[in-house]
Amino acid sequence: MLLLVGWGFVSDCSRAKSYLKMRFMWKWHELDLFCIPRHYENDLDKVIIPHGLIMDRTERLARDIIQDMGGHHIVALCVLKGGYKFFADLLDYIKALNQNSDKSVPLTVDFIRVKSYCNDESTNSVKVIGGDELSNLRGKHFLFGLQDIVETGRTMQTLLSLLGECHPKMVKVVSLLVKRTPRSSGYRPDYIGFEVPDAFLVGYALDYNEYFRDLSHICILNDRAKEKYKV
Ligand code: IMP
Ligand code: MG
Repeated sequence: MLLLVGWGFVSDCSRAKSYLKMRFMWKWHELDLFCIPRHYENDLDKVIIPHGLIMDRTERLARDIIQDMGGHHIVALCVLKGGYKFFADLLDYIKALNQNSDKSVPLTVDFIRVKSYCNDESTNSVKVIGGDELSNLRGKHFLFGLQDIVETGRTMQTLLSLLGECHPKMVKVVSLLVKRTPRSSGYRPDYIGFEVPDAFLVGYALDYNEYFRDLSHICILNDRAKEKYKV
């Protein structure tokens, strides 16, 4: 998840409500069409979002965000660990836009670490276990929080209420993925990369008990692997 904070006026983000739906199983890809690390070959069912598509969608999110921020300073808050790849790639695209267009947006970064999952299940408690002092964000106008995936929405809602105590003028949330699940609280981030099916996904920094962050594509974890890496 990515959280962005900033200074100034943000226009109405109606485009932020659009996202790519990964709906049809027949559009998911066989593993042997892609380069998968040998050590994970037997652990995955399908590639659901290839790395190139993640990058293309992230590039567009960067453009939407820059346009909506209207040149004002933003603070990007990375929700670790799962958000680190998305955070780095999104910020690279924002930097490229800053370097190559008339309009540019000053950007600073902060990090927070939260933990809510054990195996493939939410523990029902969201623990903030490290990162920058949230009080650093006091008085900042626009905060953008970046998250890897929103499932129930509990992690982001907890974080938003903590951030609320710092009284930022505006907080926007960018999540690479949102899961279609009956467990959702109904919370929707301001910017969404992809809407994904109700399965446990790994890769592109999304983990299962810390494994699979070193996989480039977003894939569906199989049941054998859930047993193999269980804690
Ligand atoms: P939420 O609080 O239920 O929205 O869950 C969000 C957090 O749970 C994410 O930041 C991830 O750390 C973790 N999570 C939820 N679903 C998945 C998944 O499919 N794969 C990996 N991590 C997940
Ligand atoms: Mg995790």
